Amino acid sequence: MELVNSYAILLLSYLIGSVTFIAGLKMLSHPETARRGNLMAAAGMTIAIAATIFLWETPNTHQRLHNYAWIFGGLLVGGVVGTLAAKKVKMTSMPEMVSLFNGMGGACAMLISLVEYHKPETTGAGKLLIIVLGLVIGTVSFAGSMIAWGKLAGKIKDRTIPAGQVVNFALLIGIIALAIIVVGQYADMPALIYCILAMAAIYGILFVMPIGGADMPVVISLLNSFTGVAAAFGGFLYDNPVMLTGGILVGSAGTILTILMCKAMNRSLKNVLLGSFGGQKAAGPSGAAKEQGNFKEISLNDSATLMAYAQKVMIIPGYGLAVAQAQHACHELEKVLEDKGVEVLYGIHPVAGRMPGHMNVLLAEADVPYEKLLEMEDANDQMGSTNVVLILGANDVVNPAAKDDPSSPIYGMPILEVEKAEHVIVNKRSMKPGYAGIENELFFRPKTSMLFGDAKKVLQDLVAELKQM
Ligand code: TAP
Repeated sequence: MELVNSYAILLLSYLIGSVTFIAGLKMLSHPETARRGNLMAAAGMTIAIAATIFLWETPNTHQRLHNYAWIFGGLLVGGVVGTLAAKKVKMTSMPEMVSLFNGMGGACAMLISLVEYHKPETTGAGKLLIIVLGLVIGTVSFAGSMIAWGKLAGKIKDRTIPAGQVVNFALLIGIIALAIIVVGQYADMPALIYCILAMAAIYGILFVMPIGGADMPVVISLLNSFTGVAAAFGGFLYDNPVMLTGGILVGSAGTILTILMCKAMNRSLKNVLLGSFGGQKAAGPSGAAKEQGNFKEISLNDSATLMAYAQKVMIIPGYGLAVAQAQHACHELEKVLEDKGVEVLYGIHPVAGRMPGHMNVLLAEADVPYEKLLEMEDANDQMGSTNVVLILGANDVVNPAAKDDPSSPIYGMPILEVEKAEHVIVNKRSMKPGYAGIENELFFRPKTSMLFGDAKKVLQDLVAELKQM
């Protein structure tokens, strides 16, 4: 009776865990509910972990876990390191941390497969196949994530490996061949499993090594989905529904995010992985060398006047705003303008900045109200009734070549259609191109005026000017 009850409680805990993961993930899709969603999923995970530690039993011998010193020792060390790291990390270093944590997930899947492979009761092609799949995917994710982390931290440089694709293809064939031998039990050599591990690790390294540093968010999201799939295999292995659900959720969310990022940049995943954005920028007819004509500059005073007498101002933040750490100054400008009766909104492009939600997180840090942040479609709907658009360190996401120039590498990428507004003021430090490395014709169009300078300094000066008016 006691056995039945504890098994029922275990299953119920797993059900609660799974439901909180799904509900938490849903809540993450809005900034207002995201924090609660995260806490809810974490609570579900805590319940699932506690239930596993105290109620789970081995299938054959009906033994509960007993090595509590190891379990709680590990939980303590991991908990302390994770908490300290999360508290210390700067917002701009978030992708690095995600990459590191993701790598740890991959390493776990890899170790689970190794441990299970060596257990005497591990037999049967089905179980061996799951072990090998978890091992390969987990190892690729671990090794790839470590390289991604090194690149983002500036410790590893982008490097094209001579014949890298050929080597990777050969590795893949080798891994498949060895996997067939292990799964089919054609040879009983534990060394083979370590060969697979080594080849998967080299594959992961070579796979991420040549990808451009700035493409890392897409790669990290892809590796994240790999880790999810590897964890789901762990769920199969242990017949653990909550691990399976968690893995599938991470796998599918990572895949969806990867696809969305590629779509918002109008690039195929193959294009990102082979790094040909940079290649096209050098060869493309819209390259930086193309002669564009004259641009006009605007003074701080004129910019302030134009905005002070506007009814509606739309701010378009981009990567440069994050680099300048000008989010607080930006919020200050918004408040000063609103005090003067000007309506201020923000137009957020899905891939503005360098990571998903970069601009939302940046502006939330400065307490900009969520309802002022408009998604691209809504921002474009409001553009016609906007008097002044103020572009702060954004470039590619407002480049009209995406609409007008079929030869441009960004052709087809949806953009913020700033030219529908009355006036366009662009703040950046020079005429240099943005991430895609291409010229931006917007800067030379009649409605556009350039306001050169570091975003933070310019915003502080604009605030000072406006306060004097
Ligand atoms: P970018 O096109 O990269 O342009 C940023 C601009 O900011 C640059 O032209 C730069 O011009 C300016 N800038 C730099 N530092 C500045 C400072 N201190 N003050 C003022 N301006 C400064 O940025 P974007 O429009 O945000 O576009 C994002 C790009 O990243 C897109 O091409 C997107 O595809 C790519 N990307 C995004 C993601 C995600 S998920 N967000 C992932 C991968 C790739 P100056 O040097 O002249 O100042």
